[in-house]
Amino acid sequence: MKILVTGGLGFIGSHTVVELVNAGYDPVIIDDLSNSNIKILDQLAKIIGYKPAFYKLDLCDEKAVKDLAAKEADIAGIIHFAASKAVGESVKNPLKYYYNNFFSLINILKAYDGKAISFVFSSSCTVYGQPDVLPVTEDAPVKPAQSPYGNTKQIAEEILQDIIAAGTAYKIISLRYFNPVGAHDSALIGELPIGVPQNLIPFITQAAIGKREKITVFGNTYNTPDGSCVRDYIHVVDLAKAHVAAIKLMEPESFSGYDVFNIGTGNGSSVLEVIKAFENATGQKLKYEIGPPREGDVEQVWGDVTKSTKKLNWKAGLDLGTMMSSAWAWEQYIAQNPL
Ligand code: WQD
Repeated sequence: MKILVTGGLGFIGSHTVVELVNAGYDPVIIDDLSNSNIKILDQLAKIIGYKPAFYKLDLCDEKAVKDLAAKEADIAGIIHFAASKAVGESVKNPLKYYYNNFFSLINILKAYDGKAISFVFSSSCTVYGQPDVLPVTEDAPVKPAQSPYGNTKQIAEEILQDIIAAGTAYKIISLRYFNPVGAHDSALIGELPIGVPQNLIPFITQAAIGKREKITVFGNTYNTPDGSCVRDYIHVVDLAKAHVAAIKLMEPESFSGYDVFNIGTGNGSSVLEVIKAFENATGQKLKYEIGPPREGDVEQVWGDVTKSTKKLNWKAGLDLGTMMSSAWAWEQYIAQNPL
């Protein structure tokens, strides 16, 4: 069965393409290459044994998306990753985020409207803001977004619920990711930040390989055990498998409407704990300094994954050490094999 994967050459998208093939699906990749590299297609071929179908396409181009839907009419599902995703950039350039993230979503939904297609939406724990209760469950209140990026995820979930209420033929699942990190165990695909990494793990691996002089820990005076922020880091391969589980859950007639799931490990790790875990897993000593807190950061968030375990039939299985060692193997690979 064909599954359209928008943003399929990106970090999470490419790992999901691998897991879709492993599960017997036929992924069709859509990507505008604005935040990904066409060479990932060749890397994917090395892993899955063939080059998946690929369309270079800007999902904000309504006519191009309609033409795609005419060409790829017989699809069973859509996994929608394509979106701008840097929290800090969204604060500086909100219109880019509202334009890209909403028009791409609306165009793909309109193009296949009326068909009983399974639709998986890439959402984020950002919608929770700083939860009042931890671990955070899916029915926790969605709080005012702390960034335009987070706001686009909140409003996108509302758009999806509104079309369900209007009687759309789509079946829809939103997956609220916690912090995706690590890389495929082949070290052939992984996170490819453009410029200075905004996220912790790519910054750590670039510091370890000597591309960055040292890591700045954004604050150590939070109300957490060691003062640094706590997050629920999840291996990107576990996260990718959750998308296959979501597609499977929507296959039977018995599934209808909309559902939402936390995709995390259920465990929180502080920034300082992650640095220690990286050093232990790789033997690389990291230089870091304590800097001021980063604007917009929530203090601590980790997910309650009971619903995902019970209803999505999915559970993360890879530990923090594996996340660190796989991220390091990927950094070493791209140092030797620049894409
Ligand atoms: C993690 C922790 C930082 C860099 C965001 C989005 C989320 C997802 C991932 C898209 C924080 C600290 C970081 C550094 C540091 N986005 N940090 N020094 O902000 O939790 O999540 O990115 O998929 O939706 O909200 O991730 O990796 O940026 O930060 O101390 O150089 O590491 O303060 O506590 P974040 P992150």
